[in-house]
Amino acid sequence: MKKGHMIVCDGSNGAGKSTIIQAIEEHLKSGHREVVVTREPGGTPIGEKLREIVLSPDTPEMCDTTELMLFAAARAQHVKEKIVPAIQEGKIVLSDRFDSATVSFQHYARGLPLSLIKQLNEMALDGFRADMTIILDLDPVTGLERVNSRGEGLDRMETQKMDFLHKARDGYLEQAKNDPEHFVVIDASQSLERVISDVLSVIDEVVAE
Ligand code: TMP
Repeated sequence: MKKGHMIVCDGSNGAGKSTIIQAIEEHLKSGHREVVVTREPGGTPIGEKLREIVLSPDTPEMCDTTELMLFAAARAQHVKEKIVPAIQEGKIVLSDRFDSATVSFQHYARGLPLSLIKQLNEMALDGFRADMTIILDLDPVTGLERVNSRGEGLDRMETQKMDFLHKARDGYLEQAKNDPEHFVVIDASQSLERVISDVLSVIDEVVAE
């Protein structure tokens, strides 16, 4: 049986994760790999319920600790119920965001202590870690313009001040700098064709291992 892998697509809001994930899925399926596409927060029935709560723009009063614990709770369920079983079956799991998002948004942007976030991530991951996290990097001003142009409304995180989104972006770049074995940064301001081709070269390397 082929070895399973976990690949994460993360980065700035509006950087085009969904389109890129679709391109990766098609690419892997054309190579006869079984792919599970999933997302965070979400990916399981419990996780999707938690997503609704944590991202609802109707509850701006949500405190930072509640927010952190909801993301972590969704992740714990996701890893146990969906990700680890799929990988054990030799599948490739492709997740729209994962633990790197908590480090960026809840530590770098919100300012919660890194030690606390690491502890919660460790608890949720239970020894598991993604093979590769692809950071689609984009200036948050451009990213938010793209999100606005979709006309789907903004979630609670996207209604934060621009400074918050800038800090989250810097957090992703910092994580990638500190762990080049597990992170790669792709410039999402390039043409879509170029972004897809850069991403697919990374994917080919990861799944060949
Ligand atoms: P998205 O998946 O549609 O981009 O929305 C998820 C939002 O939640 C996005 O703004 C990033 C944020 N987020 C966190 O703040 N922490 C997390 O741990 C995760 C997974 C997402």
